[in-house]
Amino acid sequence: MIVLKEENLLAAGGVRKVYVHSETPNKCIKVDKLTDHLGEWGTAHELEYYSYLEEKRGYLDFYAVAKFHGTVETNQGKGAVFDLVRDEDTQEPSQTLYHVMCKFHSSKERDMHKSALREFRRKLLKDRILCRDLNPWNVVVQKKKDGNIQYVLIDGVGHGKYKKFGRFRIFVKMFRHLRRRNLKSYELLKAYCLDTKFSDTRWTAGPILRK
Ligand SMILES: Nc1ncnc2c1ncn2[C@@H]1O[C@H](COP(=O)(O)OP(=O)(O)O)[C@@H](O)[C@H]1O
Ligand SMILES: [Mg+2]
Repeated sequence: MIVLKEENLLAAGGVRKVYVHSETPNKCIKVDKLTDHLGEWGTAHELEYYSYLEEKRGYLDFYAVAKFHGTVETNQGKGAVFDLVRDEDTQEPSQTLYHVMCKFHSSKERDMHKSALREFRRKLLKDRILCRDLNPWNVVVQKKKDGNIQYVLIDGVGHGKYKKFGRFRIFVKMFRHLRRRNLKSYELLKAYCLDTKFSDTRWTAGPILRK
């Protein structure tokens, strides 16, 4: 059993706490904040969808989504293990799209974001997975070695009614999600983030990000 230490807490969202894996720092472990969580939005729900994907499609590695590595037992209940997305230049954990969008961007940065958003949407459609919660604090912006950036979805995979959907419906659903106003274009995404109060994101930094 893995003992999760508060010094390794990266961040917490609305439902989960995310810890850097003490043995493999390029992975993170996610546990539900409430141990009696019924799983509607929490880890149990996501795990169910991942096992469905493994059974139906035989793999769990997607273009635009942080890779899932199964579960571990922790002192805070079942934990889901994922690749921890880190910037390639500094090796620091990548920042959320929300945080990055709230900053000022030069015209060069703006262009990089426009193409990263285009590429992200293209890859998500290629992945053909359901996302229930496609918002800018569930996406991180990874800085690449070559100076470029890449958007990676780190949360929100799966959907309460996924069992009802066939392949085609998944596609339609994804399309609808991607056409939601905040992810339509750089300008709308930026305006959405600037308009959203930080407290609405229910996001808190742990000691790792506060350093
Ligand atoms: N794989 C990851 N790589 C880098 N940062 C991550 C990763 N997963 C989560 N985080 C960070 O932890 C925060 C909360 O994680 P998240 O899975 O969104 O929790 P919740 O399910 O409560 O919304 C994210 O907004 C992000 O800052
Ligand atoms: Mg989240």
